[in-house]
Amino acid sequence: MSVTLEADVAKAHAARSAAGLVEPGMIVGLGSGSTAALMVKRLGERVAEEGLEFVGVPTSVSTAELAREVGIPLRDVDDVPSVDLNIDGADEIDPQYRMIKGRGGALLREKLVACIAKRRVTIVSPEKVVSRLGAEMPVPVEVSRLGHRHVEQRLKKLGATTTLRRTPEGMIFVTDGGNVIIDCGFPALADPETLEAGLKAVVGVFETGLFLGLCDVLVIGRPEGAEQIVTRARRWTGCA
Ligand code: 5RP
Repeated sequence: MSVTLEADVAKAHAARSAAGLVEPGMIVGLGSGSTAALMVKRLGERVAEEGLEFVGVPTSVSTAELAREVGIPLRDVDDVPSVDLNIDGADEIDPQYRMIKGRGGALLREKLVACIAKRRVTIVSPEKVVSRLGAEMPVPVEVSRLGHRHVEQRLKKLGATTTLRRTPEGMIFVTDGGNVIIDCGFPALADPETLEAGLKAVVGVFETGLFLGLCDVLVIGRPEGAEQIVTRARRWTGCA
């Protein structure tokens, strides 16, 4: 099996396994990205095959479009008191179940929905599991479009190697919320909690792609099946 096909099969197993956790009547956070899209499709199959009734809270415009296509009724994040179960992908996850997210640019809404969830499930293929965050992947930081050049200078002062995210066509990438993303390289990222606090203290930073204490169940898909790990990740107080 090719590496890409193996990863796709692994993602599908993780997605299917997590979709099996959804129960009738739940309010479910629907993550973003390719693995989350497979999970949304699987939930659509459950709606069609079993008549499963639940409500989805999408974390991006693209997830909302897909969910509607497959017949999942939706509510906005502000129209629900909380979310019973949130299922989302990740770009990296470390041994303390701390994550980097946001390669797809949906980090602000993803974190808002994760923060109101009673149980958070992360679905990944094995290459997302890393020994240390940030060695390969920058930390996406969503910032105000107005003043983003000044924000970028402040991020550099925190030690970041910065890149303003652009579309493949070279235009500035604008998030669903109308903001921009500065990808911040920190290859020697030793203390994600301190870094998160430092980044959030910069005026103009709306959210970071560091998701700390936001994984209650990790589902690792593999070519042969999926493994669910109930974590003891330290709860993060940033959602209070
Ligand atoms: C989007 C995200 C995604 O969850 C993350 O990028 C993983 O995506 P994929 O499943 O396509 O690898 O954070 O903002």
